[in-house]
Amino acid sequence: MAIIIDGKKISAQIKDEVREGTAALAAQGITLTLAVVQVGEDPASTVYVRNKQKACEYTGIVSVKIAMPEETTQEELLSRIKELNADPGVNGILVQLPLPKGLNADEVIRAISPLKDVDGFHPQSVGALSIGLPGFKSCTPAGIIELIRRTGIETEGKECVIVGRSNIVGKPMAMMMIRENATVTVAHSRTADLPGVCRRADILITAVGKAKMFGRDYVKPGAAVIDCGMNRDENGKLCGDVDYEDVFPVASAITPVPGGVGPMTVAMLMKNCLESARIQGLVR
Ligand code: GUN
Repeated sequence: MAIIIDGKKISAQIKDEVREGTAALAAQGITLTLAVVQVGEDPASTVYVRNKQKACEYTGIVSVKIAMPEETTQEELLSRIKELNADPGVNGILVQLPLPKGLNADEVIRAISPLKDVDGFHPQSVGALSIGLPGFKSCTPAGIIELIRRTGIETEGKECVIVGRSNIVGKPMAMMMIRENATVTVAHSRTADLPGVCRRADILITAVGKAKMFGRDYVKPGAAVIDCGMNRDENGKLCGDVDYEDVFPVASAITPVPGGVGPMTVAMLMKNCLESARIQGLVR
């Protein structure tokens, strides 16, 4: 029987903390503004952007949506980002991904000032995280650290296996778990004996995007299981990478999907927006 790690509740706590933070800044005459750039009209992106704007509204951050047409060129997008970088009224810049075909997301990410990179995707932000310097941290892995800490899951000296090596989840997750003094293994699609490697984990973190791939044969009894997957099962129902029903009886703690890792990403984006005041030297 596992503790259910309640991402909805913990993300709400974090948003309340950010709201207190922005109120304290407001008392000093500081208002924070997030610019959200959406190129094209991908329906999923529109929903994500709306959720981010709603969270801004709740936490007391001004959000400005910059909607650019599908036909936007790389030069036009880069030039818009340059303006936002130079605008002292903008504290955070987020370009919603994926971008329409033909646009180079890597170059766009590199164009964002690392001082305003609230997604934590800029190579400088990633490098700073790796060597423990101040900078913005990628929101999903940073949210997982909050889930782990606030649930009281011990990390020091523990075996952590992360499955998935993406730049926005797996790799930064590994860096953050090293900082939590865990012993970290990053497994992926080419890993030999993946079930055996996963069974070493005291903390198993899955980020592969394969519906219900991880059953109890991947889980050491008593392990904490964190599921970053957001998939549809054969009936079209939302599910994670972990077969929740199968794993629940053997894990000590588990994140549900939905309601686990998912809500943390936006909460941590809000936390990064608040943090921008410090990173930009507006407060100490
Ligand atoms: N698309 C899916 N997730 C994200 C995210 O966290 N940030 C941005 N910018 N785009 C995304």
